[in-house]
Order: sequence, then structure tokens, then C-alpha cells
Amino acid sequence: MGVLDSKIIVVTGAARGLGKAMSEGLIAAGATVVGVDLPDEAELDRAAEALGRNFLPFHADVSGEAACARVVAHALEAAGGLHVLINNAGVGMQEINTFNSSDPTPFWKLEPHQWRRMFDNNTTSQYLMARACAPHLIAQGWGRIINVTTSYVTMILRGFTPYGPSKAAAEAHSVIMASDLEGTGVTVNILVPGGAANTRMITDSKRYPDRAALVQPPKMVAPAVWIASNQSDGVTGRRFISKNWDESLPPAAAAIAASAPAGWR
Ligand SMILES: NC(=O)c1ccc[n+]([C@@H]2O[C@H](COP(=O)([O-])OP(=O)(O)OC[C@H]3O[C@@H](n4cnc5c(N)ncnc54)[C@H](O)[C@@H]3O)[C@@H](O)[C@H]2O)c1
Repeated sequence: MGVLDSKIIVVTGAARGLGKAMSEGLIAAGATVVGVDLPDEAELDRAAEALGRNFLPFHADVSGEAACARVVAHALEAAGGLHVLINNAGVGMQEINTFNSSDPTPFWKLEPHQWRRMFDNNTTSQYLMARACAPHLIAQGWGRIINVTTSYVTMILRGFTPYGPSKAAAEAHSVIMASDLEGTGVTVNILVPGGAANTRMITDSKRYPDRAALVQPPKMVAPAVWIASNQSDGVTGRRFISKNWDESLPPAAAAIAASAPAGWR
């Protein structure tokens, strides 16, 4: 018996990195995961081979509303339900500048399409997926929306336009969604690694020479499992820092120690 037995969880950006690690941990806890990644993303099919029959890969670009509707329809039809959405898909500053921390790019050197792409993938995607899932979750009287944003310091870091603002907007929207969903049985929480994590998003080898010192993706698993489970009933509008999750504590105590109200409160 796992704490996530019979839970069906949509994880966006599941082909690699934090999304793949969370998918693996959620499946180990008993869940079925609908793992979503971009239409041309071959890594998603490799993840499916590695993660087994409880990982259902689905190719979709979640920056568009029609694709988000298809993700929800696929979860309901192919997996037979939908209980949890993990809004994890995103693009990082490495798309703009490999050495984005040690040699930052000022905002006036960006092209407007770079700003729009980052907001489409990091912010609008979270809204569109939540919008597509919410009616079903509200109707069943139980659900979870877990949004991956970033550390507060990254949101305002020099040279981190547009990544920082795109995540700050997602953070603010998470708080609003939690309030809007109060009393429905559907909670909204934020989950962040708590520092630069060892994925392809971190490319600045001058700033981060030692990859072993980065947050390792499996650190996301314990808080993701707990938030996705019935054990977190009633916990909403909080931000969880994976790095601070102490696995030697009972999960409810670890959750209190690793979380605080989401947003700037
Ligand atoms: N790596 C870090 O240091 C770090 C720190 C804080 C927060 N985050 C956040 O964690 C999340 C996961 O990032 P990661 O580090 O695993 O990066 P990653 O690049 O390894 O994985 C991100 C995945 O999202 C997918 N994706 C992007 N846009 C998409 C879209 N529109 N539709 C479907 N899939 C899409 C990508 O194809 C990729 O597989 C992101 O939201 C990121 O901003 C990462």
C-alpha cells in the first residue's frame, strides 16, 4: 500500500529533470502519472521506458489552451481520473545566456519574443493547466494543484529577466488560486527545490562548478508525495522548500518545518 494508491497525477515537464524525478517518486508511492512534455520531446518516450506502465506519456505544449484541454481529457480517458496537477514545465535562463549568473544579460539586450516565450512557458502554462483541471477537481470535491516556481532571490536576481518575473507572477497567481478554491477541497501549494538544482537548466559552470553541491532532483519527491496525498488535506496557500524537508521527521512535522505561507507574507 502506498500513500498515493489510486491517485492520478498530471506532471508537466516530465521528460527529465525535476519532473521526471517527481514522477518516479510519485509512482513508487502508488500513483499513476500522466507525464506531459513537448510534442517533439523524445526524452519523454525514454522516460516512459524507464518508469514503466504507471507512467503514461502524453506529448503536449502546455502553453496553449487547446493542448491543456487535451491533457485533461487524456487523463480522464486513459488513466480514468485526475486528482493532482503538478505544474512543473518551464524554461530557464540558459536559453538566453549559458553564463547567466556570472555574466548576466541586462533586460534591454533581450528581444521581446524572449520575454513572451518565458511567460508563455513558465506562467501562462500554469494558469492554463489549472484552468483546465479546476472544474473536474472542484466537482469531485478533492484535488491538488502544485506549482513549481523558484526561490525568492532568483525572482529578483540581476540579469534574470524574464525568468525571475515569470516565476514571481506564477507565485502570486498560486496565492490567488488558493484563495479562489477555498472550501472546495482543492488545495494550491508551491514547491521549489530551494536552490539551483542539478538539471540541464543550470549551465553556468563558473557560478556552479560543483554539480554535487546543487539540489539533487530526488529531493523534490518527499514533499511532492506528501502534498499530493490525503495527508495534506486542508493545507493550502503554502510554499514548500524541498531542500529543507527533513526525511527523518514524520511527514506532517517535516511539512511544517519546510513550509511557510506562499507569496510575500
Ligand atoms: N533547475 C533549477 O535550478 C530550478 C530551480 C528552481 C525552479 N526550477 C523549476 O523547476 C521546473 C523544472 O525544471 P528543471 O530544472 O527540471 O528543467 P528541465 O529543463 O530539466 O525540465 C523542464 C521540462 O519542461 C518541459 N517544458 C518546457 N516548456 C514546456 C511546455 N510549454 N509544454 C510542455 N513541456 C514543457 C521541457 O521540455 C523540459 O523537459 C521548472 O519550472 C523550473 O523553472 C528549477
